[in-house]
Amino acid sequence: MTESSFDPFAPAGIHFETRAVHAGMEGLAESGSHVPPIDLSTTNPLASVESGGDSYENLATGGILQAGESPVYQRLWQPGVARFERALADLEGTEESVAFATGMAALTACLMAAVAAGTPHIVAVRPLYGGTDHVLATGLLGTRVTWAEPDRIADALCADTGLVVLETPANPTLELVDIASVVRQAGSVPVLVDNTFATPVLQRPAEYGARLVLHSATKFLGGHGDVMGGVVATDDEWARRLRGLRALTGALLHPFAAYLLHRGLRTLPVRVRAQQETAGELAVRLQSHPAVHRVLYPGLPGQDPLGLLGRQFDGPGSLISLDLGAFDAAVRFTESCKLVTHAVSLGGVDSLVQHPASLTHRPVASDAKPHAGVVRLSIGLEHVDDLTADLMTALDSTLRIPAAASRVPV
Ligand SMILES: Cc1ncc(COP(=O)(O)O)c(C=O)c1O
Repeated sequence: MTESSFDPFAPAGIHFETRAVHAGMEGLAESGSHVPPIDLSTTNPLASVESGGDSYENLATGGILQAGESPVYQRLWQPGVARFERALADLEGTEESVAFATGMAALTACLMAAVAAGTPHIVAVRPLYGGTDHVLATGLLGTRVTWAEPDRIADALCADTGLVVLETPANPTLELVDIASVVRQAGSVPVLVDNTFATPVLQRPAEYGARLVLHSATKFLGGHGDVMGGVVATDDEWARRLRGLRALTGALLHPFAAYLLHRGLRTLPVRVRAQQETAGELAVRLQSHPAVHRVLYPGLPGQDPLGLLGRQFDGPGSLISLDLGAFDAAVRFTESCKLVTHAVSLGGVDSLVQHPASLTHRPVASDAKPHAGVVRLSIGLEHVDDLTADLMTALDSTLRIPAAASRVPV
């Protein structure tokens, strides 16, 4: 590429790290800004009744803001949100993306779209995030679910199946699912992959045929534990559908949240890779502790039976689950960590530990709930030796539990 033809906003041929820094930043220099302005306008001036009405019609039905058009109202279009959406779509390799107030709001919109299309049957692969599992299991949004193993998708499809839903790495077992295989079996039914754990740095499900790629942007995309959001990267047709639903139901991302998420994307590759390096080292070290029955981490030998690492998934990531064998050991460990904060969520710069069966997966049916002895760690950017010291000390404490102290799991 010659210097004169270099365009940092043209994705073709530009490296992922460069795109992460520059995607969605178009046109700033012309307006004299270095970073995107945060426009808090809830309403926008209209040139005439006719043009206002035309814009309303376009945006309320999920269209994209046209040059010279008024955004009309923040629920219909917000320029900072649109910048973040363009950036995320660029990184996921999709035509567009649509952002929401939270990851659950993003999932809700996808399920509502399936119901609205007259295809309310959902095929879902467990394990999933507890909230996703719960909303599917209850049928709250008018869907009905069939749980299927990843190699039995075709058998589970019905005439009115609207979506196949999966998560890889799965939460909290960190098992990997072969996206291309599920897409093949699903045929014309769109496949939704929750890519929250992997991020587009490590996995871009659209490359394997997933039509909808969902994130709890609250996690790695934001990366600092200070912003909630959700986003679905997809094609033009689904994006239009989802924007229309968002305009009507109102689960939009706040402009300040959009700013923080867009900023988060700029450091996403370095954060994800640094966190992964520490997690990989910790996974090996933790295996040696006598309190640990099993370290669940896709980078360890034998934990990627389908050979997806290096093919679909560029690296094992920074989530580690530990099977400590029993509920009381999991409780003692979780409550003994000091540097690692006992808190739900994941993907931030600081390390967190939580007990999925009590918290994130509490509403999941007992036959699908994570084992009571499993704890989940989200590894941050602290030094690996400091994390090792904290986690090993907390593991030591589980070896001193008197038998009489046994607690009953949830
Ligand atoms: C994998 C995954 N998907 C979706 C969600 C829901 O996202 P949010 O909490 O932003 O609504 C979560 C939340 O923990 C999650 O871990």
